[in-house]
Amino acid sequence: MDGTADESTLRSLIILSQDAHTVYGGVVPEIASRMHLASLVPVVDRAIEGAGIDRSAIDAVAVTVAPGLVGALLVGVSYAKALAFAIGRPLIAVHHLEAHLFATSIEHPQAVPPFTGLLVSGGHTMLIDVRAWGDYTLLGATRDDAAGEAFDKVAKLLGLPYPGGRHVETLARQGNPSRFHFSRPMLRSNQEPDSPDYFDFSFSGIKTAVMNAVRTSLPAGAAGNAEPPADSARADIARGFQDAVIDTLVEKTMRGAMISQRQRIVLGGGVACNQALVGAMRDRASSRGIDVFAPTPRLATDNAAMIARTGLFHLAHGRTAPLDQNAYATQQMPGLRNGRTVER
Ligand code: KG4
Ligand code: ZN
Repeated sequence: MDGTADESTLRSLIILSQDAHTVYGGVVPEIASRMHLASLVPVVDRAIEGAGIDRSAIDAVAVTVAPGLVGALLVGVSYAKALAFAIGRPLIAVHHLEAHLFATSIEHPQAVPPFTGLLVSGGHTMLIDVRAWGDYTLLGATRDDAAGEAFDKVAKLLGLPYPGGRHVETLARQGNPSRFHFSRPMLRSNQEPDSPDYFDFSFSGIKTAVMNAVRTSLPAGAAGNAEPPADSARADIARGFQDAVIDTLVEKTMRGAMISQRQRIVLGGGVACNQALVGAMRDRASSRGIDVFAPTPRLATDNAAMIARTGLFHLAHGRTAPLDQNAYATQQMPGLRNGRTVER
């Protein structure tokens, strides 16, 4: 399982998105938990049915235990415990972010360690050197907003629905790249590998810059009202924002790959759906002979397959969870060390 190619097979994957949150412009924890409770049983039943197996064929039950909204996590953890107990199989505790690292390997057997991993989701932005599964060195992380969070906030400023990342990407495609130039977050030409911000990210400043651009590009006299700016301006702002974020993500990831001498870059998390990001990463990496692997959308955004795949890894190492397993809002990823001193 730690070999050069991933040989696990995905039998079925059911994804149920909670559209209810679109109405509120964000996730409402209480509603999320209640919807988990209502949906979990039929969703798992459909997944088992789709795999064409009987419950008795299940070897283990993997479940996300951290990080996240505890109310929603507890619904999953309680259900998983009950299922594991009922079928007499082990329970496996999975860390959500470790699962995002595994996700791409499900459909790209070569997306396995050693690689430089870029995790870009709604809650996290992390640059990780993955020497082997379970052996992670944190090179950099965001100091404020996550990349996906920035996309979502900018989407809101542009009057787009939540979650807004994919809408920003679509709008940016029609945008003029030279109209709005936002400074590249956390990128300075004189950064050295030992600079504290060499690998780190920050996305709250660009959100403010976008807010100002939105204000000034409103038609004269309309400033201050809640209407989004005129269409071409919206597309141009979306493009300027996306280009700036992508430049930072690509540059920092390349720095990580170069310093740890990796031949592969693996992207994970919802923002990895962004084709402009994937394209830009490939362009930069190919000139250095580095391969870039990105998950397909169903495996980039949150999904159960990546939890099962990570569970398989922990099962193979005998790491099962007790039936009094708890859920945690925050928790360090297992196997993650802090540090910029990358072993070669
Ligand atoms: O990994 P994920 O499904 O959930 C978390 O663990 O947070 O990531 C969701 C995030 C949202 O912020 C969403 O706007 C963003 O991924 N996202 C995108 C795109 N598709 C989803 N961001 C930029 N471009 C996209 N195409
Ligand atoms: Zn996620």
